[in-house]
Amino acid sequence: MARKFDNRPIGVFDSGIGGITVLKALRARLPHENLIYLGDTARLPYGTKSAETVTAYATQATRNLMTHDIKMAVIACNTAASVALEPLSAALDPLPVIGVVGPGAEAGVKASKNGHIAVLATEATVRGGAYLRAIHALAPQADVVQKACGLFVTLAEEGWIKGDVAEAAARRYLEPLFKGRQKPDTIVLGCTHFPVLARVIARVVGPGVKLVDSAATTARAVELALTEKGLTTNRRGKGKVRFLATDSAERFARVGGIFFGEDITAKQVELVDLLPG
Ligand code: DGL
Repeated sequence: MARKFDNRPIGVFDSGIGGITVLKALRARLPHENLIYLGDTARLPYGTKSAETVTAYATQATRNLMTHDIKMAVIACNTAASVALEPLSAALDPLPVIGVVGPGAEAGVKASKNGHIAVLATEATVRGGAYLRAIHALAPQADVVQKACGLFVTLAEEGWIKGDVAEAAARRYLEPLFKGRQKPDTIVLGCTHFPVLARVIARVVGPGVKLVDSAATTARAVELALTEKGLTTNRRGKGKVRFLATDSAERFARVGGIFFGEDITAKQVELVDLLPG
């Protein structure tokens, strides 16, 4: 029988630091929940790797999160959620697993009025086509164009989220999507790193194009699932956030602060080893 309350933490997994955008949305929506975030910073990026490698890495990482007695796993990494959600759910069964692709697709479909939707993501996410399938499941007539924007990940990691270089990259990626075809009225930021570049992207595509990401919709999906399964905390005070990473606590803290919107110190970041054996 489902428990009424559950004070165990929610595990949030990403290939690196960008998933903190999802962590932030979870904290805003579920302030009393304890959250434990694991970034596989030693093996970032996942977005350029094969589905097999991403699945193997993500399975090791989420199994590590399970050792912290989590009550649910949130796959904040779009690449892992795109290519590995099914094997991950099977590997972690009976733990509930929520990925960001479904909620991101839902946000895109809700926002679009003309049915033309652009999805910006990593190469692996685009290749896997999970956003395409998720959007078409909700809106079969939608015209979806996907674009791999790998350099955005590097720019965000470097903290170059505004200025000439970011704008030139955004133009190069986005202008072709708005030429000679029905213009998308909605862009789904289908990668953890892209929300921090939203201002530059918005400037390049101009007004009238909505930018959506999966952070807020994922947080809502998590809240719903917790309620349905009787897994919500009954804690009254503010929940704690714990950070785990597989490499460089200093870098995690420095770049993580950009995504979290508040300072993270290297001391707050615990290093973990995911390699088997
Ligand atoms: N977390 C990845 C994603 O959301 C971006 C970074 C990477 O390539 O690992 O797709």
